[in-house]
Amino acid sequence: MEDYTLPFWIYLAVLTVFVGGAMKKLLASQLSAAPSLVAWLGATVLVERVWALCLPAVLLLLLLLACFLYFRTRPPPAALPARGKAVLITGCDSGFGNATAKRLDALGFEVFATVLDPSGDGARDLLRTCSPRLTVLQVDITQQQQVQQALLDTQAKLGPKGLWALVNNAGVCVNFGDSELSLMENFRGCMEVNFFGTLSVTRSFLPLLRQTRGRIITISSPAGDQPFPCLAAYGASKAALNLLTNTLRHELEPWGVKVSTVLPSSFRTGQTSNQAYWEQQHKQLLQGLSPALLEEYGEDYMSETKELFQSYARQANPDLSVVVDTIVEALLAPAPSPRYFAGPGVGLMYFIHSYCPFSISNRFLQKLFVKKKLMPRALRKESGFDLNLSLHHNNNNNNEEKLQ
Ligand SMILES: *[C@@H]1O[C@H](CO)[C@@H](O)[C@H](O)[C@H]1NC(C)=O
Repeated sequence: MEDYTLPFWIYLAVLTVFVGGAMKKLLASQLSAAPSLVAWLGATVLVERVWALCLPAVLLLLLLLACFLYFRTRPPPAALPARGKAVLITGCDSGFGNATAKRLDALGFEVFATVLDPSGDGARDLLRTCSPRLTVLQVDITQQQQVQQALLDTQAKLGPKGLWALVNNAGVCVNFGDSELSLMENFRGCMEVNFFGTLSVTRSFLPLLRQTRGRIITISSPAGDQPFPCLAAYGASKAALNLLTNTLRHELEPWGVKVSTVLPSSFRTGQTSNQAYWEQQHKQLLQGLSPALLEEYGEDYMSETKELFQSYARQANPDLSVVVDTIVEALLAPAPSPRYFAGPGVGLMYFIHSYCPFSISNRFLQKLFVKKKLMPRALRKESGFDLNLSLHHNNNNNNEEKLQ
């Protein structure tokens, strides 16, 4: 202990503060604040180098203090005013759409809220609780005529004034399960709503958005960037959506239209907490399956997937305010980010996916979402003691048996 001098301890303390600051930013999932993260890490390296050149400790501390104060006290750029800006949000029957429509109305936006069911709880709730500025429009985004009608209605109400923003929120996750076991119509259904529906709405409203040099904010999912097991139908549709959104961002830059994607973590929205809905989907899936597939995978395997998903959905966050806050930020920040992570852990998830070796990110995804214990029936051994071994291992055993 005596060997360590006071400056060394100061150095260690300062370094800890900086590395801690960087880690905190990382864990707070604010990777959208990447420049400041890089600045923190850069400052840490700088401190280390400067120290190596034996700068007096006092000078060093002053330098660090200046950096710290700069990052602490720099005010965020002032948000644009909401008043008078018109925004159209799709999928306001429940979930993020419902919550966002209410918040935007309260902030003074002129809200056009599209709903699937104009006589449903969501629509009635919006009309009851919001100001008269809010308009509810009935739109199934997969029906081009309904989208066109919504455009006409919106134009009629707005007059010559354009639309400030489109919030593409409507989306579905019709089922989950191994790709081989999912129905083709589930893949098509997800694509139809999440991709083609959003594309159709975006194309229809673009003339109004170009007029104001406005914004497009699309709610997507980390499942569109990372291969979550059992979410292929949903994930593939969101992957297509992400690529579309990112391409639009380039194409609309000359028009001054800013395009952002919001990537929420797991929240309790839509049908996720509707037990009866998932039971019914599960039953439908079992009925549609060929006897050979049912035999090879086993009904218990499929029930396990369903139960794991349901328990995952039960743990989902019911407080949607993080996502709503993010949408508001994307709407009003003078320079919105192309990508927003909303909710705990999303930034970390992307960090692992982007920077960790494949073997680690792969494991992470398998452990994170649907933690299956049961093997498909055909891969189980009679003895049953290696049920929990990895799929790969079991696969090998099985192949060997077949070869013998
Ligand atoms: C809409 O959001 C409010 C809270 O803002 C909630 O009380 C209500 O149940 C939601 N409605 C639907 C249909 O999700």
